[in-house]
Amino acid sequence: MKRPIRKAVFPVGGLGTRFLPATKAMPKEMLPVVDKPLIQYAVEEAQAAGIEEFIFVTGRGKQAIEDHFDRSYELESVLREREKRDLLESIVGWVPKAGQVSYTRQMDPHGLGHAVRCAKALVGDEPFAVLLADDLILSKEGCLAEMVEAYNDVGGNIIAAMDVPQEHTKRYGIVKPGKDGERLVEVKGLVEKPAPAEAPSRTAVIGRYILQPSVFDHLDQVPRGAGGEIQLTDALARMIGEVPFHGLRFSGTRYDCGDKVGFLHANIAFALARSDMRGEVEAILRDVNKQL
Ligand code: UTP
Repeated sequence: MKRPIRKAVFPVGGLGTRFLPATKAMPKEMLPVVDKPLIQYAVEEAQAAGIEEFIFVTGRGKQAIEDHFDRSYELESVLREREKRDLLESIVGWVPKAGQVSYTRQMDPHGLGHAVRCAKALVGDEPFAVLLADDLILSKEGCLAEMVEAYNDVGGNIIAAMDVPQEHTKRYGIVKPGKDGERLVEVKGLVEKPAPAEAPSRTAVIGRYILQPSVFDHLDQVPRGAGGEIQLTDALARMIGEVPFHGLRFSGTRYDCGDKVGFLHANIAFALARSDMRGEVEAILRDVNKQL
């Protein structure tokens, strides 16, 4: 019997420099795709996977995230008075219960590995999930729910995996594959951002992880890499052979919302996926296409 995945860590301490000036005073994770902030998509994905505790690793200027996951009594009472039931539901329905959310500060943005390490005391000695809100995934099943299902089978560490074009390997952590089934691939090695000629495969790591708590010991030991950052990939590479380690080729499409073009792409795809918007958005796209 595998230990259940009850907790999820959301590292939201990054500076979001690729999205300046939008992220000068607003957290990247609060950027809306259609009408919902990126971080809410990630939290709802975690809820759908059975997560009960939500741990945010924040930094300066991220208060809007805390407010978003709180009650907004004034707004709620106005909407109630005006009998706007749908809107009321849209601001309360998904808010986790009191005590389910906790925050810790990263203080210095020393990288994703450092952010995850900051959650050690809140996670404790149990396996947990990590979700990067800027990797937005459009899927029916829910990427983390699929990963939890795979975890219940094979245990250990699971990373979300996606096959990318050979010329894009430089943008991702890339898996050195062992036994490769259609969906589940054994991870025999991890290489950070290899040039296409040096990449051990085309299978990239995406921002969803199920990790064993021993990752914290490795994070304590890995030396700082480029820019003084502590890389999560370096700690994960040390766990290969220590725990079962797999990549799951999830269903659905991932959008890199930390990147401006990826973010626009996500907005179009998510709007087209909504029955209340599809027609109008298709008409706009046809119109734009004519002007090209
Ligand atoms: P990114 O590599 O996208 O970095 O981080 P960033 O700082 O957010 O954005 P850019 O590259 O400057 O535009 C991937 C994830 O790791 C988190 C980010 O919030 C994002 O979810 N992160 C990154 C931290 O929490 N702390 C860090 O020190 C770095």
